[in-house]
Amino acid sequence: MSEIRPIEWANGTLRLLDQTRLPSEEVMVEAHGYLDAVDAIKTMRVRGAPAIGITAAYAVAMAARDLDISDKDTFMKQLEEAGLEIKAARPTAVNLMWAVDRMIAIANSETDTSRIKQRLVDEAVSIEKEDEAINRRMGKHGMVLMPDGGSVLTHCNAGALATAAFGTAVGVIRAGWEDGKRFKVFNTETRPFLQGSRLTAWEFKKLGIPATLVVDSAAGMLMRRGEIGCVITGADRIAANGDTANKIGTYTLAVLANENGIPFYVAAPISTIDMSLNNGDEIEIEERASSEVTEFRGIPVAPEGVEALNPGFDVTPARYVSAIITEAGIARPPYIESLDLAVRSAGR
Ligand code: MRU
Repeated sequence: MSEIRPIEWANGTLRLLDQTRLPSEEVMVEAHGYLDAVDAIKTMRVRGAPAIGITAAYAVAMAARDLDISDKDTFMKQLEEAGLEIKAARPTAVNLMWAVDRMIAIANSETDTSRIKQRLVDEAVSIEKEDEAINRRMGKHGMVLMPDGGSVLTHCNAGALATAAFGTAVGVIRAGWEDGKRFKVFNTETRPFLQGSRLTAWEFKKLGIPATLVVDSAAGMLMRRGEIGCVITGADRIAANGDTANKIGTYTLAVLANENGIPFYVAAPISTIDMSLNNGDEIEIEERASSEVTEFRGIPVAPEGVEALNPGFDVTPARYVSAIITEAGIARPPYIESLDLAVRSAGR
């Protein structure tokens, strides 16, 4: 199988696998400037915290490339404005802000604007490459948590499509499977955007890992029947105390796992940890259009004019999280200490 890579950079053009068209069509769309990249993030053609971060890094590189200004101060002022626009594309995944800040810091460290332009392209390429390496390390650390003979449930899409390649939570599942462990995999459909049924199920098929798709609300019943051995999800932002924001429905799964004595794991790169936040109450939760709930691809699934609320994420309190897998290893409670260690090991 060739690796799934949702982001490609070639000859100054960013190409993105359009995730709104999966699984029926595998189409690459092009982003020619930073505003195209912002639009792709907003419309979720590219989605998943690490993939949003990588796209944002290329967006900063394109914004710089397209500035026809030689005075460094004026150049930086314009670039920082573009950076703010990029950061505003989606609010919850901190990888977006992390990537833009990392790119702006590189730009600030150079004196000459043409040198800045080249350094920013190189840095975006590094962020993309690092992400795959990080995911593979995360897989190696996390695979010990995968059962041999049991079963695993995952939610949303924390696979290759949400990253440069390999994935986070799906990467851990994949690493366990490639290590020779055999376990049953369940994945939720993940209403309303169906990242689970459209994207994760598509990835498991490509990987050759048998997986069973279930509606989100079947999880509790399956857990009570003893059919789920552990749950593993990705994350969009993790506060210093381990409270974790992830796709809406994650909190429900974590509470149900706790009720049924099932371990609940989170797999995420260190760039998803936001040490500036003491706890999850400080995480901004994205509200998406109500049409994502009332319609599917333009077809109404609710009466016209009905009011619908569409929070994109929820926060799982750290007390429900059994372990957080990062590229630095497996962090266990108390997270205030173990995440601090992980972040320090990454030199942040
Ligand atoms: O709204 P999305 O599809 O961007 O949400 C994605 C998730 O919630 C993922 O679980 C998270 O970003 C981790 S991806 C490795």
